Order: sequence, then C-alpha cells, then structure tokens
Amino acid sequence: MGKAKALLTDLFVQEIIDIRRDFHRHPELSGEEYETSKKVQSYLQEAGIEFRSGFAKTGVLGIIKGAKRGGVVAVRADMDALPIQEQNNLPYKSKVSGKMHACGHDAHTAMLIGVGRLLQEMKEEIHGTVLLVFQPAEENAPIGGSKPMMEDGVFNDIAPDCIFGLHVWPDLPVGKIGVRAHEIMGASDRFKITIQGSGGHASMPHQTIDAVIVASQLINQLQTIVSRNVDPLDSAVITVGKITGGDRYNVIAEKVVLEGTIRTFKNEVKSLVKSRFYNIVEGTAKIHGANVEIDYFDGYPATMNTPKWADVVKKAADNALGNDATPEVNPSLGGEDFARFLEKYEGAFFWLGSKMEEGIQKPLHDSQFILNEDCIAVGMEVMTTTVLEALTNFAKVKEGAK
Ligand code: NI
Repeated sequence: MGKAKALLTDLFVQEIIDIRRDFHRHPELSGEEYETSKKVQSYLQEAGIEFRSGFAKTGVLGIIKGAKRGGVVAVRADMDALPIQEQNNLPYKSKVSGKMHACGHDAHTAMLIGVGRLLQEMKEEIHGTVLLVFQPAEENAPIGGSKPMMEDGVFNDIAPDCIFGLHVWPDLPVGKIGVRAHEIMGASDRFKITIQGSGGHASMPHQTIDAVIVASQLINQLQTIVSRNVDPLDSAVITVGKITGGDRYNVIAEKVVLEGTIRTFKNEVKSLVKSRFYNIVEGTAKIHGANVEIDYFDGYPATMNTPKWADVVKKAADNALGNDATPEVNPSLGGEDFARFLEKYEGAFFWLGSKMEEGIQKPLHDSQFILNEDCIAVGMEVMTTTVLEALTNFAKVKEGAK
C-alpha cells in the first residue's frame, strides 16, 4: 500500500468531501474568491502548514518544507466559480443566485487542502519542499490568475523545479487518469467584431449598408479558415458564440457585434488562423462598404506537458490505481490557465476521471454539471503520489551528482 493510501482513511476523505461541499454551496466568481481564500488559509493554519497570501488578491501559497533537502515541487488548484444558475437539486446546491461551481474548482481546492494535509503528515520523510498554489480567476481568460500570481512574486522566494495540476474530467470514469506528453489543452483566444453599417427602412435596402448581411457572410467565411487554410492533420476551432444587432423586423440593422473564440494547439497554427481571421474580417467588411472594428484577445497558450513529468504522473497513477489507470487520451481544445505556469516551469497537467455512474453526465460549465465525489480520494492519492515520486526523482539526481 502506498504512503498516501495508508493515510486516506474514510474519515479523512469525508472531511475533504465536506470541505468541497461547503465551497460548492458558497461559490465566488473570478477575482472575488475572498471567502474561499480565507477558508483555505484557515485550513492550512489548522494543519500547521506555513502559508502566504495576497497574491493576485486572493491567491494563497502553502509551503511544506520537508525534513531533508531536495527539489521543490508545486501543486496548483483553481478556486473560482462561474456565473451560472445551478439547476441541480443537491443537498449542497449553490446558495448564491447566479453563481455555481460548474467546473469542479470546488473539488480542486478541497483536494489540494487534502494533499497538503497528507504531505504535512509525511513531512519528516520528505526530501525537499512542496508548494501548494491556490490560484484565483482561472475562468477569467485572457487575464487569468496564474500570471498575476507570478507577477505578485508567488515564486520569488522559492521557485518550483516542477509544477502539477489536475482537472476533474467527466468523460473519464472514476479511477482513470488522462495524461499525455506535450499538448493536453488548447490555446484559447477570444474576439469581438463590431460591424458598423448604415441603417434604414427594410423596404429600401439600396439606401443602407446592412450589417446583418455582412455578419452572416463573415460567419460563413470564417469557417473556411479551418476547412481550407489549416492543415487537415492539425487542429483548430473557430466559434462565433454570440451575435447581437438590429432593432426591429422592419429596420435594416446599422450595427452587429459578433463574439467568439479561436482554439488551437500549435503556435504556428494559431498565427495562421489569427492572420487569416484579420484578412477575412477586414476584407468582407470592405467589399460591403461597412466599417469594422476587431478586438482580438490572445488568451491562454496551449497547455504543454513536459514529457518527463507526464510520465511521472502516469507512473504514480498506475502505482496507485493499477496498470490500466491511464488510458490513451486525445488532447482537448479547452483552454486552461495552468498553461502559463507550464510556460515558465516544467511540469504536467492531468485529468481526473469524475464521471457519474448513473444518469446523464452533463459537461463542465453546464448548469446541471455534477461530479462523482468518489474521484476526490483518487485525486488526492494520485496527486500526493505524483509529488512524492517527483521529489524522489530530485533526490536521485542529487545522489547521482555526489
Ligand atoms: Ni475548470
């Protein structure tokens, strides 16, 4: 039995589930995680874990210094909820109208508190230092919370040698971990296109520049970037998710605003899509005589795992859960703020199977999203084992260097 498993008693796991449910009842949006942050700090204090706070306003850094010297391994959890009205009937349903933990960050935060407690218990045997990074504003792309935390100096005193993060994953059953070398999550950019035409009477189109017509052509044109410009063996998605414009059925619209997102993995694909995007938007507006304003926000980069550390996660998961615990997975084009940590430090991000056994599994960000709480014990075990395994790696390097 692994060290982590031995400490994961039913009582311990239930306490962490209760903490998760408390976070679930009291969701806070990106950048407003004040109460969540206070609770995190008090749990760390209770566990005797040293911490610092105030990074990116609500971010918290827990520090566990092992009895022996070694590497520095960081683990990150995100704390924010979404502006969604929860439609579930759960005993621990959100008590805040219009806000919901629909992305499982409540579980991530609770699990990291658990991982901290477990590692604190093992402190005497630990070679090295563990950093617990509780980050705000993951959902607030493109600004996010990881970059502001780093800018606020979260790693100034102790820089990690590697960093790990996880996300509950409703596509995988409990007991399975999704991890892969290189890309695991996509780059997510955001755009807003404001088409300015000139309005008029619906019966006299010749006197107008119809912003609705320009918008409809644009939406279709944009899809040709993926189908005609991107190499079919690469990946890209362009989604126009929101259209607003027009005033009345018999008035030609003067203005239409389109908002959407662009997802890619490779940098060169992102650059290609972005430059074609500008050409098509500007060109289409021009041929219709409309004016156009483009706001393009470069969002999170692709989440790129360091192969060596992805391998450590795989090994830790297989050790903890059995040999078939890490099925091969394709990357997802979802965006993830953890990518910015991985731009600076080596590490790996993995998916924690959290699929419900019964009923229809709603996806992340759905108002009826539910996670299978059995994943919480698994997540704590795999993450703790990963940290221990990574620390062992550094200890080995040090011994080898002697
Ligand atoms: Ni999320």
